[in-house]
Amino acid sequence: MKRFYVTTPIYYVNDKPHLGTAYCTITADVLNRFHKLFGEETYFLTGTDEHGQKAQQAAEKRGISPQQHCDEMVLNFQKAWKELNVEYNQFFRTTSPVHKKVVQTCLQKLFDKGEIYCDVYEGWYSVSEEIFYTEKDLVDGKSPTGREVTRIQEKNYFFRMSKYQERLIDYINNHPDFIQPEFRKNEVLGFLRQPLADLCISRPKARLSWGIEIPFDPDYVTYVWFDALLNYATAVGLEQPGRELEFEKWWKDAGALHLIGKDILTTHAVYWPTMLMALELPLPRHIFATGWILNKDNAKMSKSVGDVVNPVDIKNIIGLDELRYFLIRDIHMGNDAPFSLELVESRVNSELANNLGNLLSRTGNLVEKFFAGVKPSFAQDDESSRALRQKCLELSSLVKKEIDSMRPSFALEHIIQVLTMANKYMEEKAPWKLAKENLTEAGHVLATTLEVVRICGSLLSPVMPQKTSELLQRIGVQSTKWEDLAKWPLIPEGTRIQKGDPLFPRKDFKTIGQ
Ligand code: MSP
Repeated sequence: MKRFYVTTPIYYVNDKPHLGTAYCTITADVLNRFHKLFGEETYFLTGTDEHGQKAQQAAEKRGISPQQHCDEMVLNFQKAWKELNVEYNQFFRTTSPVHKKVVQTCLQKLFDKGEIYCDVYEGWYSVSEEIFYTEKDLVDGKSPTGREVTRIQEKNYFFRMSKYQERLIDYINNHPDFIQPEFRKNEVLGFLRQPLADLCISRPKARLSWGIEIPFDPDYVTYVWFDALLNYATAVGLEQPGRELEFEKWWKDAGALHLIGKDILTTHAVYWPTMLMALELPLPRHIFATGWILNKDNAKMSKSVGDVVNPVDIKNIIGLDELRYFLIRDIHMGNDAPFSLELVESRVNSELANNLGNLLSRTGNLVEKFFAGVKPSFAQDDESSRALRQKCLELSSLVKKEIDSMRPSFALEHIIQVLTMANKYMEEKAPWKLAKENLTEAGHVLATTLEVVRICGSLLSPVMPQKTSELLQRIGVQSTKWEDLAKWPLIPEGTRIQKGDPLFPRKDFKTIGQ
C-alpha cells in the first residue's frame, strides 16, 4: 500500500495560532485527507517547539516555570486545531522526555564521530531569532531580517555542516522535486554558492537554561533548531528501541513531506539535510515552502503588526468549511495571497452557494416535487448528458494529478468547472418544465445531476469534511471509495433523496464592517 507522511512546522509555543499557522496546518490536513481518499496509508504530524529564549523569558515574566508555561500555551494550539477540524495522528511536543533522550543520543553519536567540535565563537547574535550572524551577514548593523543583534564571544559546540556542502548541492541537483516550488530550490542553490559555515549547536546555560542539555557538557543546552528539526524523526521512532519498524515505515519508506513557510527554508533545506547526512539517515522526500497570507495592505500578516486574525474567530464568522475552502482555493500553494472578508464572500458565494449549493438544492427540490423524493431512473442518453458524464469520470484522476503535484487550488478548479457544466446542463434541460411534458426525460436529467453531486461532493470531502458529509448523506451515499469515483451510475435505484436547507447560505459580510 502506498504511504504518505506529512508534517507541519512545529509552532513556537509562545505565540498563539493565527491565520498563517492555521493555513499551513489546514493545508497539511487537506493533503492528508486527499491521500487517505486515494486509499493510501497516511501519517500527519504537527506539534509545538517549546525550548528557547522566548519561552524562558515569557515564563519568567509570569513567575512560573517554563514547563508550566508551555503546558498551558500548548492548549491554544490543540484547541484551535480541533475547532478547525484538523485530524492529525500525533501532536509532538519538544519537551517530551523521549525527545530529549533522542536529541541527546544524536548529539553524542555526532560528537563521538567527530562531527561536533568545541571552539570559541565570536560574532553577532540575534536574540529574537536565536541565530548567529557573521559580520558580512549584517545589513545596516542589523540581522538580514532587520532584527537587533549583539556582539558576543563564547565557547560553543559546532556541527561540521560545511563538510556536507558539496553533497547537499549534488543531492538537490539529482532530486529536482526535493525542494519545492522550483524557485525556492533555486534560492537554496543560490545560498549554497557561498561557502557554508559550521553550525553552532550549543548555548551556554548561563545565558539560556531552557533547552536540552548537551550530553557531553552539562554547562550547555542544545540550540533550539537542532532540537526542533529532529522532531520529524523522533515522532516516528528515531533511536527508540522497539519502534524500528515504525521508523522504517514512515521515515525510510514513505519519506516525509515537510510543509513549511518560506521564512524557515534554510533551516529545513540546509541544516536539516546535513544533520541527517551526518547521522547517516535518509533525507525527507520533499520540502515544500508556502508563501505568506497577506493583510489588506498586502503586507505579511504578523503578530508584531497586530493584525493577526485569530483563526477560530474568523471561522466563527465565515464558517469552518467555507474557511478551509477559501484557504485551499484562493491560495496557489507556494505563493503569497491576500486574505479579506470581501475575498471570502465572493469566492464562497460564487462557487459554493451559487454553484455547488445551487445544483444540490435544485436537484433535491425537483426530485421531491416530481418523484416523491426517490432517485429517478436513467433513460435515453443524449450528447449533453454524455459529455457531462465523461467529464465526471475523468475528474478523479485529474484531481489526483493536481494533488500529487501540490496544486490543490487547481484540483478544486477542475471540480468547479464540472459543477458549472452541470448547472448549465440543468438550465438547458430545465427539468422543472420538462417534467410536465416528459417525466422520464426529466428523471434522466436529475439522475445525472445526482451522480455529478456524488462525485464532486466526494472529491471535495478532504477540503470540506463536514459539509460534504451532510451533502452525501442527503443523496444517500454512505461512504466514499476512491474506485467509486470513476464509476457511473452508482446511487442505487430507490434511494431516498432529502432536500434540506441550503448547504451554503449566501454570505454578506458588509455588516461586519471590515
Ligand atoms: N518553531 C519554528 C519552526 C520549527 S520546525 C522544525 C517556527 N515557528 S513559527 O511558529 O514561528 O512559524 C511556523 C510557521 O508559520 C512558519 O513556517 C511560518 O512561515 C508560518 N507563518 C507565520 N506567519 C505566516 C503568514 N502570515 N502566512 C503564512 N505562514 C506564516 O518558525
